[in-house]
Amino acid sequence: MQTRVLTGITTTGTPHLGNYVGAIRPAIEASRRVDVDAFFFMADYHALIKSGDAVRIERSRLEIAASWLAAGLDPDRVTFYRQSDIPEIPELTWFLTCIAAKGMLNRAHAYKAAVDRNAENGEDPDAGISAGLYMYPVLMAADILAFDAHKVPVGRDQVQHIEMARDLAQRFNHLHQHEFFVLPEALIEEQVATLPGLDGRKMSKSYDNTIPLFAGGKKQLREAIMRIVTDSRLPGEPKDPDSCALFTLFRAFASEVETAGFRQDLLNGIAWGEAKQVLFERIEADVAPMRERYEAFIADPVAIEAILQQGAEKARAIATPKLAVLRSALGLRTSSVAAVSSSQPKATGKAGKSARFASFRDADGNFRFRLFSADGEELLLSISFADPKTAGAVQKRLKTFGAAGAVLQTLPSGIALELDGQLIAHTRDCQDEAARDHALSQLREALDQLATQD
Ligand code: TRP
Repeated sequence: MQTRVLTGITTTGTPHLGNYVGAIRPAIEASRRVDVDAFFFMADYHALIKSGDAVRIERSRLEIAASWLAAGLDPDRVTFYRQSDIPEIPELTWFLTCIAAKGMLNRAHAYKAAVDRNAENGEDPDAGISAGLYMYPVLMAADILAFDAHKVPVGRDQVQHIEMARDLAQRFNHLHQHEFFVLPEALIEEQVATLPGLDGRKMSKSYDNTIPLFAGGKKQLREAIMRIVTDSRLPGEPKDPDSCALFTLFRAFASEVETAGFRQDLLNGIAWGEAKQVLFERIEADVAPMRERYEAFIADPVAIEAILQQGAEKARAIATPKLAVLRSALGLRTSSVAAVSSSQPKATGKAGKSARFASFRDADGNFRFRLFSADGEELLLSISFADPKTAGAVQKRLKTFGAAGAVLQTLPSGIALELDGQLIAHTRDCQDEAARDHALSQLREALDQLATQD
């Protein structure tokens, strides 16, 4: 089975070398594994919590998309999309909001830190804090739970958020007595390098010590590297590789053999200026081909848009049926079905008949059922169940869904009905697309009829 790995990138900044080594490169490498089903998205709704600067957010979305694509992300393999293209995410955010304990959100680190800062400054505890910041963990939980992600690679600062997503999933499953959500786990990449920035501290936008990955081109990359702070050892004096940012940066790009060579150069007393040039050339060797692709993407935002729209379509093929099931479980079935069931005469077929299930035992002694239309035509045949109770329980649940709540998958030869991600029943083989469309509409009608039965 594939593990679904999902991660979001907040679109407030421009990617730097630290992002590349710490997040982009390992994520893309992981996405190439056959046992991984990767979902990467731009968390542009989260960006709104941090920044009201529309120009910056728009620019950042473009730069981040172009960077990931240039770095080798294959959009055919990975589901790559923008959070704001998936309306199911804010919808699920609300469902989760309604079961989230306010006390849990009070304990979120980012919110608590903001409250503490206010207390230090003698301000009202919630001064300047938006409800968006407060709800940040719930939006993030929706990002994850809408796609049933198993693993979520994040930095340590985000682990609490994954725990909250897990907590919300568990609470929802418990309240509604069904495993609607996979419980996600944080994946903390222990061996992934954190790069030092220009001043030797961790490279981070908040320290203003970053080296841009692509922005500014080769020239700015070189200039930034030349600005890295070193000690005052003179040419010829040995330099300690293990306490020097240049060496850490070099190692993040180079092979073991190259790294050993650079270590020796430092021990032999290479001049800092020269060492920086060696470092620049090594990084540039990796970055140059990607930069060329990056620039081509930046110059063609329409191409990026098409890729992201396709990604959104792929993502919604999962989220839309998932939300339909949730809506149904919460009592929010489509109004036509709901209205019919409460006040109008039952939706029935010709001669007052309605769709119905029929159970039977197959040749192996297992239990199965068929679904027949109001006209008595066979619409579905179930898989086999070892015991009749399960088969009965499945029928009972199918009755509650209606066409809008059922998860129907179009197969090359017919239609499959899924329950909790498992194929449960299928139509007969259809000769062509028209036959399949017909089967689909018959099935929908029958499911709606079942939903309105008492
Ligand atoms: N909050 C994450 C960060 O700042 C970004 C993010 C948003 C995310 N939604 C997510 C990460 C879902 C993983 C899964 O890094």
